[in-house]
Amino acid sequence: MVDLHSLTTFGVPATADTLIHADTPEILLSALRTAHGANTPWLVLGGGSNILFTKHFSGTIIRNELHGIHIVEETEHHVIIDIEAGENWHTIVTYCVERNWSGIENLALIPGTVGAAPVQNIGAYGVELREVLVSVTGYDIPQDTIRTLSNEECGFGYRNSIFKQELKGHFVIMSVRLQLSKQPQLRTNYGSVEMLLKHIPIAERTIRDVYDTVILIRKSKLPDPAQIGNAGSFFKNPEIPSTHAHEILAEYPSAPIFPLPNGKTKVPAGWLIETLGWKGYRNTDTGSGYAGVHSDQALVLVNHGGAQGKEIQDLAESIRKSVWQKFSILLETEVNIL
Ligand code: FAD
Ligand code: EPU
Repeated sequence: MVDLHSLTTFGVPATADTLIHADTPEILLSALRTAHGANTPWLVLGGGSNILFTKHFSGTIIRNELHGIHIVEETEHHVIIDIEAGENWHTIVTYCVERNWSGIENLALIPGTVGAAPVQNIGAYGVELREVLVSVTGYDIPQDTIRTLSNEECGFGYRNSIFKQELKGHFVIMSVRLQLSKQPQLRTNYGSVEMLLKHIPIAERTIRDVYDTVILIRKSKLPDPAQIGNAGSFFKNPEIPSTHAHEILAEYPSAPIFPLPNGKTKVPAGWLIETLGWKGYRNTDTGSGYAGVHSDQALVLVNHGGAQGKEIQDLAESIRKSVWQKFSILLETEVNIL
C-alpha cells in the first residue's frame, strides 16, 4: 500500500495499492498496458490539484512525470510549442511570458500539470485553454495506439472536454500543442483585472502586466494549498435560464448575475453559497471541524489540517442540498471525487 496524501493539494489521507512514477513514455505505456491487460483499476495523476480521495484506491496510480518543451514552428507572428504532459502549468506560463509570447498570461498560477489542463479546459480571468490549444497527443488505451486530437475533436466547453466524457478512462494525454502570439492582444475585460490595470494607459500595457495582475488577484482571493488544503473551486458556476435569474433578482436585487452569449445567465456559485451563510463554516457540528468553506471565497472547500476526504464530500453534499432547496439550482462538482 502507498501513501498519496502529499500528492494532492487537498492533503487528505489517501492510499492506493501501487504508485508508478512515469517519467518516460515507455514507463507510462507499460504501466497502462499492464493495468488494462490485468483489468486493474488505474488513474493518471498530475499535480493532484483537482482531485479528492475519499477512500482507498484499489489499483494503480500512475503519476505523470513526462518533461520537455519543444518549438515546432516560429514565425514573426506566432510560435507553436509542444509541451510534455508532466510539465508544471504555471512554469510554462512564466516561460511564455518571459519570451513575450502571448495567450496564456491570464492563466497564470493555476496549479497542476500541462497534461491535465485540457481535461477540464482550464480557464480564468476571461481566457480558456481552448483558445490557444492546437492539439492534444496521447495514448488511446482500447486502440493501443498513440494518436492526436485536433482542438475541435477535444469537444471543449466550460470546464469540460471529451477527456471527461467519451474518452474518460480511455485516453491519457502525453503532450499538448499550443499556439502563442508574438503580437499580443491583451485580454483585460475581467472586472478585477481591468480595475487593477486602469492606471496604465492601454497602449502601454504588456503581457507581464496582465500576468502580474492575475497573480496578485489570485493570491488575494484563493487559499495557497501549501497553507490550507483545497482544490480551487469545488463546484462549477451554474448557467440558468434568464427567467430563473430574474426570480433570484426579485429577491436579491444586487445578485451578481452575468448574461451569457448563449442566452442563459451565469450565477456565481460562490455567491449562492455565501448567501446561504456557508462562508467560513467548519464542520465542528458533524465531524472533526477540519473540513470547511474558505472564509474569503465560498466556492473553495478547505481542509484545515486533519479532515478526511469523506468529510469534505459530505460537506459538499450538504451545500448542494441547501442551494437546491433555496434556489432550485443543482450545483455540479468540478473536483474529481474518488
Ligand atoms: P489532477 O488533479 O492530478 O487530475 C485532475 C483530473 O485529470 C483527474 O481526473 C486525472 O485523472 C486527470 N488527468 C490528469 N492528468 C491527465 C493526463 N495526462 N491524461 C488524462 N487525464 C489526466 N482550474 C481552473 O480551470 N481555473 C482556475 O483558475 C483554477 N484555480 C485553481 C486554484 C487552486 C488553488 C487550486 C488548488 C486548483 C485550481 N484549479 C483551477 C483546478 C486545477 O488546478 C486544474 O484543474 C488543473 O488543471 C489540475 O491539474 P492537475 O495536474 O493537478 O490534475
Ligand atoms: N462571489 C461571492 N462570494 C464568494 C465568492 C464569489 O459573492 O464567496 C461572487 C462575487 O460577486 C464575484 C463573483 O462571485 O464577483 C465571481 O467570483 P470570482 O471572480 O472570485 O470567480 P469565481 O466565479 O468564484 C471562477 C472560476 C475560477 C477562476 C475565477 C477567475 C469556476 C468554477 N471558477 O471563480 O476557477 O479562477 O473565476 O476567472 O468557474 C477553479 O476552477 O478551480 C477556479 C479557481
